[in-house]
Parts: sequence; structure tokens; C-alpha cells
Amino acid sequence: MKGLKGKNVLVTGASTGIGRAIAVRFAQEGANVAINYYSGEEEARQTQALIDQACEQIQGCGVKDQVIQADVSQPDDVANMFEQTLASFGDLDILVNNAGIQMQGPSHEIDLDKFDRMLGVNLKGAYLCARRAIQHFLAQAKPGVIINNSSVHEIIPRPQYVGYSISKGGLENMTRTLALEYAPQGIRINSIGPGATATPINDWANNVDERARVESHIPMRRVGNPEEMAAAVAFLASDEASYITGQTLFIDGGLTLYPDFLKPWS
Ligand code: NAI
Repeated sequence: MKGLKGKNVLVTGASTGIGRAIAVRFAQEGANVAINYYSGEEEARQTQALIDQACEQIQGCGVKDQVIQADVSQPDDVANMFEQTLASFGDLDILVNNAGIQMQGPSHEIDLDKFDRMLGVNLKGAYLCARRAIQHFLAQAKPGVIINNSSVHEIIPRPQYVGYSISKGGLENMTRTLALEYAPQGIRINSIGPGATATPINDWANNVDERARVESHIPMRRVGNPEEMAAAVAFLASDEASYITGQTLFIDGGLTLYPDFLKPWS
């Protein structure tokens, strides 16, 4: 995709799922990729191996990759992660805020430490990374790109997942606020809003019956796959999207289209 070759990308939470697919996709586009992980160094190394494999299939790929441990909710970890990325690549062009967690429970009973953790990783973590990336873009007086991995639950209320819903709703406002604030400097900030995607975050991903139940609610009658999310991230980060900022691109098989209205009610 136009404008990605030779770029330096940092993807948070890239050891599994959508983050892994995003990291591999950027490498296939010829970008250098910093693979952040929180726990599970082995899984992060697998992402690196997939990048190397993907590159072998592309002649002259020659991208650099780097595995970096950090908890995105911790300012010192974030500072260190950026330091390591810049030390390895010399520059940063694209940040992908992908790291996220979800927890379930009746909203009147949610453990407050868990609530704080949810917002700490999904929202504050994304802000800490965006803040640091913008500081870098401004210091270099260069345009940069930030993509946040939000969710359809940015706009669809999700009972029993109040912390998750708040974090993704907050991400939408963060995307729009930062996009407006830094548009004059040529910094573009967008989000993707995945629908149900088969990754480790979802218990149904490896259960045939549960998965079929999830799919029955989706207008396109199937869940998404991480590569479909990664394709949208690559597009939004590329020069093909050079006039797009402050938007959320939903990739959800129609889930945000009020599926209940598919058949007439009366
Ligand atoms: P996943 O569980 O495979 O990926 C989440 C990643 O975030 C993991 O690699 C995990 O280690 C990392 N992470 C967790 N806490 C972290 C921390 N403190 N610091 C750094 N990394 C941390 O699941 P998936 O689906 O790939 O999730 C990626 C993003 O996609 C999340 O933000 C999630 O909310 C979002 N999403 C996923 C959907 C789905 O159906 N799978 C739907 C909508 C959004």
C-alpha cells in the first residue's frame, strides 16, 4: 500500500490476535515493526518468526523487527518502549494502539481494581502512547500517524462489560480530539472498530457451538479474522488515506447496522 515501505511502526499488544496480524501486515508492506508485548515473550517471538517467514516470501523485504516488553498503562514502561523503538529504528512514523483487555460482570458489582485496570490499559495506555508519539512527531516537525484499535462497542452499548464499553467510547473521543488538535501539523489519528473477531480475547473463538451462536447475530453470518482488521489498519496508515483523520472505520460484517432490523418487525 502506498507510503508504507521503509516506515517505522510500533504496534502495542502485538504478541497475539489482531496485533500480531497488524505487525505481520506492516512487515509485508516493507515497514520496520516494533512488537510490543506485556507478558508472553514466547508469543511475541512467534510474531517475529511470522514476520521473518512473510518476508522470506517477498524478495528484498529486508525489514527490521524488534520485540519490546512494556505494560502500556505504566508511563515509565511506555517511555522505555519508545526509547527502545527509536534506538532500534532511529525514527517512528506510525503508532498502533492495539493492546486491550476485557472483563465481564454485572455493572453494579464490578471490582473497582479491575475497572481501573481496564481503563488503565485500554484508554490511559492508548493515551500515554499517543502522547509520546505526538511528542516525537512534533519534535521531528514531521507528519505521523496513529491508529487506535477501538471496537464496535465504541457505539454499541455492551451490558456486563461496562469498563470495556467506557474505554472504547473514550477512545472514540480521544481519536477525534487528538485528530482535531494536531491536524494542522499533518498528524492523522484514526481508529478501527472491529466486530467479533476470532482471537484469544474471545472464549468462543475455539468453541464451535459458541462461535456459531455469535455468527448467527452478525448480518454477514461469520466472524471476522485478524487479517481483515490488519488490512484496514494498513489502509488508514498509508498514503491512500492521506485526507482521513478523526474517523473510526468499522470492520464488523454489518454488526453496527442494527441487525435486528434485517427482517421487518411487523
Ligand atoms: P488478544 O487478547 O489476542 O490481544 C490483546 C493483546 O493486548 C494481547 O497481546 C495482550 O498481551 C496485550 N495486552 C494486554 N494488556 C497489555 C498491557 N498492559 N500492555 C501491553 N499489552 C497488553 O485479543 P485481540 O482480539 O487481538 O485484541 C486486540 C484489540 O482488539 C483489543 O484492543 C480489543 O479490545 C480489540 N477488539 C477485539 C475484538 C475481537 O472480537 N477480538 C473486537 C473489537 C475490538
